[in-house]
Amino acid sequence: MKIGIIGLGFVGLSFGSVLASKGKNVVGIDVDAEKCKKIRNGVSPFFEPDLERILKIGLKKKLIITDDFSLIKDCDMIFVAVGTPQKSNGAIELSMIKKAVTSIGIILAKTKKNPIVLIKSTVIPGTMQNVILPILEKRSGKKAGKEFGLISNPEFLQESSAIRDTKFPHVIVLGGYQTKFMKKAKSFFSKLHPNVSIVITNHQTAEMIKYANNSFLATKISFINQLSNICQNTPGANIDDIAKTIGLDPRIGALFLNAGPGYGGSCLPKDMKALINFADTIGINPTLLNAVEKINQKQIQNIVSLIEKTLGTLALKQITVLGTAFKPNTDDIRDSIAIELIKKLLKKKSRITIYDPKAMKNTKDVFGEKIIYARSATEALNKSQCAILMTHWKQFEKLNNSSIKYMNKKFVIDCRRILVEKKLQAEYHAIGIGKI
Ligand code: UDX
Repeated sequence: MKIGIIGLGFVGLSFGSVLASKGKNVVGIDVDAEKCKKIRNGVSPFFEPDLERILKIGLKKKLIITDDFSLIKDCDMIFVAVGTPQKSNGAIELSMIKKAVTSIGIILAKTKKNPIVLIKSTVIPGTMQNVILPILEKRSGKKAGKEFGLISNPEFLQESSAIRDTKFPHVIVLGGYQTKFMKKAKSFFSKLHPNVSIVITNHQTAEMIKYANNSFLATKISFINQLSNICQNTPGANIDDIAKTIGLDPRIGALFLNAGPGYGGSCLPKDMKALINFADTIGINPTLLNAVEKINQKQIQNIVSLIEKTLGTLALKQITVLGTAFKPNTDDIRDSIAIELIKKLLKKKSRITIYDPKAMKNTKDVFGEKIIYARSATEALNKSQCAILMTHWKQFEKLNNSSIKYMNKKFVIDCRRILVEKKLQAEYHAIGIGKI
């Protein structure tokens, strides 16, 4: 059995590496030849814990990495994991996936194989039926369900735990028609993950499950952030104790109740916008989803207002941002709230110094010489008039009074509440805790 994977981002590369490390015959394809070269040398194009180790095991076994699309011709299963970014109006951008399935269709026309094409990329409901299936059938001249299989297979892995999530998914979703191809796919996944539930449904439902998942997570975060704002203005109220306690109620669940500066990353914000846009186009006013989005956008303004309240005008003020990655254990800054915050502060003519354990290069690619890049958190705090702790990196938990010793004004905003116990001799604000 040969497996093709198209698109070597977080999803495709993690999936391909894990499969190959288990001895499967895998060909990973990406249009970016430079990226392929790096991966072939065992180097991941992005930081993801454990990925390089698994990738190297895979490369020693049967993992081939190439930009040559024709290598999918002998594949039995072809997974598509290309990005589906957003357009300026929030709608989903399908050009990459259309290009990928067009190339697959052209190759299907020439091969004697009857492979299964599985779409891992997140696409709005109806995309398989109305866009992907017609392209594949037209380009290949073959019939889906007869000469090749077509299955929606949404992916739920999180960055920073991509390998663990790939090895131990909480569910496998297979959407499509009940054909021999569906049986084959089910058997493939049940061997790969013997104890994991496999949900078999139609394309539209499978597509919607992914949006339901991400929009529910975003809703949990905006809910806790709204409560956090109420707590912050209620002397003595502590959002973490509240989250911990309500999380003990099994109907609520403990995860995704960490208040902070709002959700970022390459998925939650774009998927929320795509779902809202989709709902609008079919005449549904998604009031709850809109509120979730609005709360998320406002959260950053609350932080700016807090800084202004203490520093007054922000022009020429020396501000330190600790953490630019959208979450810890990644170098990914896509849609990171910290990046948005820096942009806002720069508009107000603040002078910004940053430190992030992994995302310095990516941050420099965005801001160049407009901001200062420190070599450590303590160096970043030197002469600063305000420090904003944005990302919960483990190493920031070590910050203490001696780390802030050389701040010009000891003023700290802790968006993750990791320094609460440190009793900093500073004007210290923990987001979500009402000052007494
Ligand atoms: C998300 C989904 O979790 C995953 O299932 C999907 O496949 C891809 O999108 P990811 O983008 O890796 O994964 O990020 P996630 O861990 O969900 O975090 C998203 C954002 O929410 C981050 O900015 C994070 O800091 C924030 N967050 C998360 C909170 O503010 N509080 C929380 O309790 C959890």
